[in-house]
Amino acid sequence: MDSISIPELPLLASPSSYSIPVLGLGTAVYPFPTSDQISAKEAILSAIKVGYRHFDTAAAYQTEQALGEAIHEAISLGLIKSRDELFVTSKLWCCDTHPHRVLPAIQNTLKNLGLEYLNLYLIHWPVSLKTPSYDFPINKDHLLPMDFKGVWEAMEECQKLGLTQSIGVSNFSCQKIETLLATAKIPPAVNQVEMNPVWQQKKVRELCKRKGIVVTAYSPLGGQGTPWGSNAVMECEVLKQIADAKGKSLAQVCLRWVYEQGVSFVVKSFNKERIKENVEIFDWELSPEEVEKIDQIPQKRGYQAFDFIADQGPYKSPEEFWDGEI
Ligand SMILES: NC(=O)c1ccc[n+]([C@@H]2O[C@H](COP(=O)([O-])OP(=O)(O)OC[C@H]3O[C@@H](n4cnc5c(N)ncnc54)[C@H](OP(=O)(O)O)[C@@H]3O)[C@@H](O)[C@H]2O)c1
Repeated sequence: MDSISIPELPLLASPSSYSIPVLGLGTAVYPFPTSDQISAKEAILSAIKVGYRHFDTAAAYQTEQALGEAIHEAISLGLIKSRDELFVTSKLWCCDTHPHRVLPAIQNTLKNLGLEYLNLYLIHWPVSLKTPSYDFPINKDHLLPMDFKGVWEAMEECQKLGLTQSIGVSNFSCQKIETLLATAKIPPAVNQVEMNPVWQQKKVRELCKRKGIVVTAYSPLGGQGTPWGSNAVMECEVLKQIADAKGKSLAQVCLRWVYEQGVSFVVKSFNKERIKENVEIFDWELSPEEVEKIDQIPQKRGYQAFDFIADQGPYKSPEEFWDGEI
């Protein structure tokens, strides 16, 4: 089969004219690390074959190595000519969100991937941990407030050193974006947040649009089967009805809706058929009536971030963590 060409969005905050492919493959499989690194690698190779060029990993997922191996195999198989054809995102884990730990963390990520540079490096969560640990769930006794200014300066340094083309954040509320922007010399190129028809993120999207920050939707299908996700999206009646009427799958309706919102998104599948199904969303569209129906779906954040909330920690409730955006 010919591979599908995936549209891209410009990363306005980046110094050069970089762009992000709107659709990327997620690689978070809980528990971390996935016991099956081989299937992670095979899934990534299948994705490259059908046209995926954007891959999302993180130090915490422990899939950086599988992604790196898949990239090198894709080059040796001739599926791509060089790593430069891909867009690779990784993320700084909470134990490394200390100014002096950012550089060693990205260097370790690059070593795991076997790459010389990332396309995008994100602060995974706006929180820090006292001790080096990539375990999830985290030890809540180790939660600390993050030094926004100092950590972002270290992220800026990573970009200046050429270790990553762009830098960004993840799970940032409007208020946290504003806090970061107040001292940032380089604005974040991306904010990666949970977004799907059941949690549409209108407020964050509006602010990001005004500030030239691209939103990347994670859990676009609701992250079913993960500790941070639920079946709320895949069992949504409104989406089911639209899918049946259109002869598309519910997942495709969902991903098409996310795409039509003008954001990028990362969807995880390690199944060959579903990897292909998820990319077949660029040659049809939702009608204004269908978009209107999706707009009316009652809203509920899937992941409240309870893992990061503790009486002795910097955030004592989901309201505090998300600055009221719940
Ligand atoms: N920044 C963050 O804090 C953060 C948080 C969560 C996730 N993420 C990133 O976002 C990625 C995607 O989010 P996610 O993994 O939470 O959830 P998701 O992509 O919304 O959903 C993944 C689940 O849906 C299934 N699936 C995929 N395509 C399907 C289809 N066409 N039909 C039916 N089921 C389908 C997958 O199973 P199969 O594999 O069996 O197909 C998997 O169980 C992650 O992998 C990760 O890279 C980032």
